[in-house]
Amino acid sequence: MAQHHFFDIKPVGRFAGQNAAIRRPREITFFSFDEDHRLRHDASSLRYYYPPAVPCDLNKGFDTFRQLDDSADDHLDGLLDALILYEKEKGNKVDTDIITWRGMMTKIMVAPFSSFDDWEMNATLFQGTIFIEENHSKKVASREHQFSEVARPGAMSQDLMSFWGYKFETVSLLPEPWSATPREYIDSREDQIVSNYAQYCSIVRTGFGKVKMIIGGEVDAVMDFKPEDKSQPVNWVELKTTAAVTNEREQIKFERKLLKFWAQSFLLGVPKIVVGYRTSQGILEYLEELDTQSIPEKVRVKGNNLWDGQTCINFASSFLEWLKGVITEGGVWRIQKRDKSPRLEIFKVEETGHGDILSPAFVEWRTHG
Ligand code: A3P
Ligand code: MG
Ligand code: MG
Repeated sequence: MAQHHFFDIKPVGRFAGQNAAIRRPREITFFSFDEDHRLRHDASSLRYYYPPAVPCDLNKGFDTFRQLDDSADDHLDGLLDALILYEKEKGNKVDTDIITWRGMMTKIMVAPFSSFDDWEMNATLFQGTIFIEENHSKKVASREHQFSEVARPGAMSQDLMSFWGYKFETVSLLPEPWSATPREYIDSREDQIVSNYAQYCSIVRTGFGKVKMIIGGEVDAVMDFKPEDKSQPVNWVELKTTAAVTNEREQIKFERKLLKFWAQSFLLGVPKIVVGYRTSQGILEYLEELDTQSIPEKVRVKGNNLWDGQTCINFASSFLEWLKGVITEGGVWRIQKRDKSPRLEIFKVEETGHGDILSPAFVEWRTHG
C-alpha cells in the first residue's frame, strides 16, 4: 500500500498565533464561457452590477431555466488553455508553486472550521509546479447522496433553491456597463431567461506565506467597469443569496456561511459581496453590501466568534508548504478530507504520469512549445 501522509487540522489553536503574509491577488489573465459554454479568450461574459428592485420573486422563470449540464469532468482545462495563451503572449512560462481552481483553495482554507466537509482532490507535480483538481467522481457521488436524502415535507426542492441564486444574478446584473444600458433593459430583468451557461473567469497570481500560486475562478460581476490600467485593483462583486435572519439560530447559520463567502472572495481579491436576503419562499426582500476584508473582524467582535480568518490563512500556508515537501515526484496524489476527521490525508493513487489533471494541449505546449 502506498505511504499515507497526514496533516493535522486539529487543534486549530496552533495556527492562531502565526501571521502568514499574503499577497494581494492580481489578475494576470481571464477567459469567458459564452451562452453555449464555449471558451473564449476574452471578457465577453463579464457582467456589471446594478441593484435589483426589491421585493422580487426569485421563483419566476424556473420552468425556462437554461441549466448547464456540469456532469462531465472538465479537470483544469479552461484554466490551462488560458495559461497557454498567456505564456505564448508573454514569451515565458509562469513560475509558481501551485496552480488550481479557486474552489479547491476555498475548501483548504475553511477546513479548520468546517469539520463536516468531506472532499477529495487529485494532485500532480509537473515541471516544478503542483497542479490540483477536484476528484470529480467523489463530487458526483456526494451530490447524489445529498439529493437522495428524503426531503422534509413542505421543504423547497434543492433545484429550485439553487435556481434562486442564478435568478438573483439575472435581476442584479447587466451585460454592458450601466451607462451603456437602456433603461428598458434594466426594468425588464425580472423577465429575462435565467441561464448559467455564461461565466467570466479571472486568473490571479497570489501567495500564502512562502507559497506562490495561480488560481482561477468565476467572478460574478464588476461594480462599475474594469479599469484599463492593469495595475489597478478591480471592483469585483460577488453575489450571494441567503435566508433572511430572524432569530439567533439563523444568525449562527449565517455567520458560518460568511466563512465560505469570505474565503471565496478573498482568494480572488473580490472586495465586495452583495447579499440578497430572501424569505423561505424565495422572495428577495433586501440587500446588504459587505466589505470582504471586514467580514472576519465582524464575525469575531460583533458576532459569535465562530471562526477566525487569520487562522484559515495560516493553516493554508502551513499545509501548502508542507505539501510541497510531500509531492516531490511524479504520479497522481490524492488529497482528502473525511467528514469529522481531524486531519488531511495524502497518498499516491497512480505511480507515474499525471492522470487527466493536465490537458494534452498543456503538456504538449510545455514540453515542445
Ligand atoms: P447563491 O450562492 O446565492 O445560493 P456563486 O455564489 O458561487 O456565484 O454561485 C451562484 C449560484 O449557483 C448560487 O447562488 C447557487 O444558486 C448556485 N450554486 C452554487 N454552488 C452550488 C451547489 N454546490 N449546489 C447547488 N447550487 C449551487
Ligand atoms: Mg458565481
Ligand atoms: Mg455568487
